[in-house]
Amino acid sequence: MSKFFDVAMEAAREAGLVLLAEHSRPQKISYKGDVDLVTETDKRSELLIVGRLRREFPEHRIVAEEGSGGAVGASRYEWHVDPLDGTTNFAHGYPCFAVSIALLEEGKPLLGIVFNPVSNELFTAKRGEGAFLNGASIRVSAITTMETSLVATGFPAHKRGDVGNIHYYWQFTLRSHGVRRDGSAALDLCSVACGRFEAFWEFGLKSWDTAAGILIATEAGGKVTDLKGAPYTPGGPDILVTNGHVHDEIQRTAAEIAEMPPKL
Ligand code: IPD
Ligand code: CA
Ligand code: CA
Repeated sequence: MSKFFDVAMEAAREAGLVLLAEHSRPQKISYKGDVDLVTETDKRSELLIVGRLRREFPEHRIVAEEGSGGAVGASRYEWHVDPLDGTTNFAHGYPCFAVSIALLEEGKPLLGIVFNPVSNELFTAKRGEGAFLNGASIRVSAITTMETSLVATGFPAHKRGDVGNIHYYWQFTLRSHGVRRDGSAALDLCSVACGRFEAFWEFGLKSWDTAAGILIATEAGGKVTDLKGAPYTPGGPDILVTNGHVHDEIQRTAAEIAEMPPKL
């Protein structure tokens, strides 16, 4: 475990330095979908991380967003890598993005690392050993009501019209201290873990967006399910992560919103 962790942490830090060095330069943007951006930096960061993991653990499977992963054979270990979570922010020079690396053992997160190179914040967790920010232990917040919560969400870059998340955004804005949409799901999950947000929900996230962050949030005392309260697996259709205290209330409210006629 400690070798897995050390290699992942070094790879995240190195990739973070690549993001940091390149984020103030003009970006060459291409599109994977109508607003699904990808830059040369996403690919450079991914090649660095995947190259390192492959050299160290040639038998492990790797799922990486830009497609340079793969598997040589069957292994119980699978890495999930988002080389740049927050590409739209990055491409616009908005300093909110991260590297996210998780290792799953037979489908269950074993370690998670999220590195924000701008704030130099390294969030880490190993299963059963707690969650840390730059080496200091972190915990979710103690807030117990939705109306006093700061919550967060995001919107998918693909098929944006298919999910009515804007209605949830609207309703949760009216019923809480506010809803943030900061553009990096991995960092949103870490913000729940360290008590900046009480809750986060989103539809359509991929395993590389959430696998590291859900372990960090869980190890910090948070609760992770889908929006109906059923177990969440990385890559599932929707996710709800909270400090635990507001989970049931937010889940009940989400169920109510799902039944409301859309307001335009
Ligand atoms: C995106 C970010 C964003 C979320 C989108 C993701 P990317 O990841 O996590 O916060 O709302 O759904 O696709 O494309 O920047 O790696
Ligand atoms: Ca992402
Ligand atoms: Ca990405």
